[in-house]
Amino acid sequence: MHFQFSILVLAGLAAASHSGNVLSRAQYTGIASFNNYSNQSNTVCGQKSGTSGTYGAAAGDISPDISGGKCSGSIDTSKCDGQGVIENYSGPSCPKTNCGVCYTVTNQGGFNGASVQGAGKSITVQIIDSCPAESAFNYCKTQTPANQRCGDSSTNQLDIDYNAYEQLTDTAYTSGLPNLAIGIQPTTCP
Ligand SMILES: *[C@@H]1O[C@H](CO)[C@@H](O)[C@H](O)[C@H]1NC(C)=O
Ligand SMILES: *[C@@H]1O[C@H](CO)[C@@H](O)[C@H](O)[C@H]1NC(C)=O
Ligand SMILES: *[C@@H]1O[C@H](CO)[C@@H](O)[C@H](O)[C@H]1NC(C)=O
Repeated sequence: MHFQFSILVLAGLAAASHSGNVLSRAQYTGIASFNNYSNQSNTVCGQKSGTSGTYGAAAGDISPDISGGKCSGSIDTSKCDGQGVIENYSGPSCPKTNCGVCYTVTNQGGFNGASVQGAGKSITVQIIDSCPAESAFNYCKTQTPANQRCGDSSTNQLDIDYNAYEQLTDTAYTSGLPNLAIGIQPTTCP
């Protein structure tokens, strides 16, 4: 469905914490990739409705902690044309369960130790789409590790509006920059 020019990954581990009687929110980890949503009309939830200063994002549908539910579909490699997709392929349909949910996303460094600036910087994302493991747009990319194409059920993945990249890393986005290791904390949408 999305993944027009890059892919995300996350290594998911959840650690819920409690402090006093304050409701503390779960903190997950994962990987962020970045996508250009500006002319993408087929997102599961429609366009981002949050205030400016938040960023649209797709959650991997088999992410352990942040999935909105699994999308329909199955892996059928006859839909693949090399690393791409045959003409007129349409992706699986996905539940809208987590549409509009917001997370605070924190830059924890470049994925796999890649060097990036801005560690510790945070943004708010709002879920506008799903990233299906069983979409040909993802599973055909066999040269990309499964945990960077929403294909790993132990990895939380967010594919975030590329405009967020500069906010997180002080570096303007271009394709080829490293994906990010991120913290993911549920939050109220602003
Ligand atoms: C994002 O997509 C829009 C619309 O297709 C395009 O005008 C813009 O240049 C793209 N941005 C990047 C960084 O590719
Ligand atoms: C992107 O969408 C806008 C609004 O629908 C449209 O005016 C513009 O031509 C589109 N740009 C591209 C590159 O498709
Ligand atoms: C894809 O869809 C277009 C428009 O409906 C059609 O003209 C074309 O023949 C289709 N291509 C294939 C390979 O089915």
